Amino acid sequence: MKNPIPNIHLNDLMPYKGGKSHVLGVEKIYKLSSNENPFGPSKAVVRAYRNAVNDITVYPDPSNNELTKKLSEFYSIDYSKIICGCGSDEILHLLARAYLAGNDEAIVSENSFAVYPLAIKASGARVVRAKEKDFVTQIQSILDLVNNSTKIVFIANPNNPTGTMISYDDIIRLHNELPDDILLILDEAYAEYVHDESYHSGFNLVNDNNNVVVTRTFSKAYGLAGLRVGWAYCPIEVIDVLNRLRIPFSVNSAAQKVAVAAINDQQHIINSVKHNNFWLPKIKHELENLGFIVTSSHCNFILIEVPIELNHDADEIYNFLCSRGIIVRQMYEYGLPNYLRLTIGLEEANSLVISSLVEFLK
Ligand SMILES: Cc1ncc(COP(=O)(O)O)c(C=O)c1O
Repeated sequence: MKNPIPNIHLNDLMPYKGGKSHVLGVEKIYKLSSNENPFGPSKAVVRAYRNAVNDITVYPDPSNNELTKKLSEFYSIDYSKIICGCGSDEILHLLARAYLAGNDEAIVSENSFAVYPLAIKASGARVVRAKEKDFVTQIQSILDLVNNSTKIVFIANPNNPTGTMISYDDIIRLHNELPDDILLILDEAYAEYVHDESYHSGFNLVNDNNNVVVTRTFSKAYGLAGLRVGWAYCPIEVIDVLNRLRIPFSVNSAAQKVAVAAINDQQHIINSVKHNNFWLPKIKHELENLGFIVTSSHCNFILIEVPIELNHDADEIYNFLCSRGIIVRQMYEYGLPNYLRLTIGLEEANSLVISSLVEFLK
């Protein structure tokens, strides 16, 4: 019997693996594996979600009009250049499908978000990785890889899984030196957490150019990962192409309403970021005192190297933390087997991480 044959370039694609959320036999779980906001959404947002039940009989607004209007007002950006998606993942995949085909290349930073290679390979194109220095994206390494086959450069700023960022000056330099027909995608999923003076969103670059896209998400600081809402700020020509490709109702009606309520409750974002600003340096310091090597992060997570001097590997530490109900992220799929990524949690979870590691290493 013959079987249907999928596209050949899908053969070496591995499905994306999300952070684990259960440990067999452990009841109380602290999920610190997917960089969600440990506070979840605010009360006002939960109310908006409950009210959204009234809308579930009819199809959602395919133009995401209310949400797009709110985003345009809040960020002072052009309504007609905003597109919403089922998470920013959907938009990243659409961009790859729209601008890449076999024999094309897309450049990513050496250790960057795992969805980019998936989206690139799903389009039949080649992934080209630009060397980093100390886990920081290097503009010159990217520029050195540009050739006639390059169609897209993906930059997560700040970056997952490293947590590092590059300055707006670097982004401008990269853009200035890239040919105009290469699409520069700036993924700003963690922008709300950054407070470095040299960091700026790429919105203005989108306003002034035809080859820059900025993606954003409600999954991280806004605490809505389960609702799947993301969006992008794009040149009109890009919006036009994505609108031809996307499925009509990818953002459901509850997600549209709740995302508007989340933008209206900025106090929740301020509180969440304040909590992160307190715990990020504290946990880094405590982990370094225990002998771990911790990358400087501008996000709500940190990348932790388990050095051989500790006489334990990342798997042992991962398993021990799991036994205490703490789930962090293993880094195999990122090619970093001796690293773990830890999301900043609530005080109880953070303290438990530290006390568990102290216990394990003593
Ligand atoms: C850098 C980066 N971009 C995009 C995403 C995807 O976000 P969304 O939930 O909006 O699809 C993530 C999620 O982990 C991320 O880390």
